[in-house]
Amino acid sequence: MEDKKLITPEDAAERLGMSPKTIRDWCRSGQINGIKVGRAGLWRIPEEEIEKVIESNTKAGMRKIAIAISKGGVGKTTTAVNLSAGLAMQGKKVLLIDTDTQGQVSTLLGLEPDIGLAELLGKEVSISEATTQARGNLFVLAGGDNLASMKIQITKELDQPQFALANVLEEIEGQFDYVIIDTAPSWDILNLSVLFYAHEVLVPISLEVLSVQGFAKFQENLQNVSKYQQNLELKYILPTFLDRRVKRSTEILQQLKFTFPYQICDPIRYNSKLAEAPGSGQSIFEFDKRSAGARDYDKLVSRVLKS
Ligand SMILES: Nc1ncnc2c1ncn2[C@@H]1O[C@H](COP(=O)(O)OP(=O)(O)OP(=O)(O)O)[C@@H](O)[C@H]1O
Ligand SMILES: [Mg+2]
Repeated sequence: MEDKKLITPEDAAERLGMSPKTIRDWCRSGQINGIKVGRAGLWRIPEEEIEKVIESNTKAGMRKIAIAISKGGVGKTTTAVNLSAGLAMQGKKVLLIDTDTQGQVSTLLGLEPDIGLAELLGKEVSISEATTQARGNLFVLAGGDNLASMKIQITKELDQPQFALANVLEEIEGQFDYVIIDTAPSWDILNLSVLFYAHEVLVPISLEVLSVQGFAKFQENLQNVSKYQQNLELKYILPTFLDRRVKRSTEILQQLKFTFPYQICDPIRYNSKLAEAPGSGQSIFEFDKRSAGARDYDKLVSRVLKS
């Protein structure tokens, strides 16, 4: 009989677009059937195991990506909106969920919905009533003020408030290609419930002044949730506000590339069009498709489509 072809965690990671650490964790937890070889007990993975993961990812269909970090003003909402708009333009069916009381997703897309996520969480409306169609393939569950009291209600009334979001979204499983979730710059019950629903996390890091601060704490929070939600992965690190004239900005970028060689994405440059687009209620692709901002977000869309 032919021997199974074994590959290293590094090769497996490359094929699946994730980090070798995750692959080793999966071997240890039995999520994939790795084999220990040699005296050092190094992990090797049968090629067919990788094929199984690819197959189940394709079947699972609906990718759930949270845009999160506790730091404010780093480009979370800009990224959530433009990534969603770009994926929708590529023919993907996208649900964009705004879990922030600021409700800026609606503003950025020029929408004024009366109801959204808060009413859905409060079970006042059905999911189709709570959703607003923003563009052809793009649907929005709006955030806003009403979420503030909803957070208190969830905490008081539910036995397991961390599953609040997963519970109300259960019925749309498989109906979208992507669910993108914008989060508030905080660490509260709603953000926790986002991490109990999403499988992938995209962290924008502003390359302006020391915004890397707070990231270590966020990673710690993420690791704590991962103990209960094994499918959760820090998948993308997106450097934002890159200004190559500022030495500190390029230094932080180099440091991030070194620390996160697998997760790092091409940076989003500082681009005034990205700051102007929200005023017109348009995505960057509608506002100025030739701008640096549109080109940078287009690259992110391609990266996410690849896995
Ligand atoms: N690459 C960029 N170049 C220039 N301006 C940008 C860029 N990205 C975002 N902005 C602007 O910076 C501000 C903050 O961005 P954004 O609202 O996306 O951050 P955020 O992380 O969602 O903030 P919050 O934590 O308050 O929700 C906005 O006014 C936005 O238009
Ligand atoms: Mg925001």
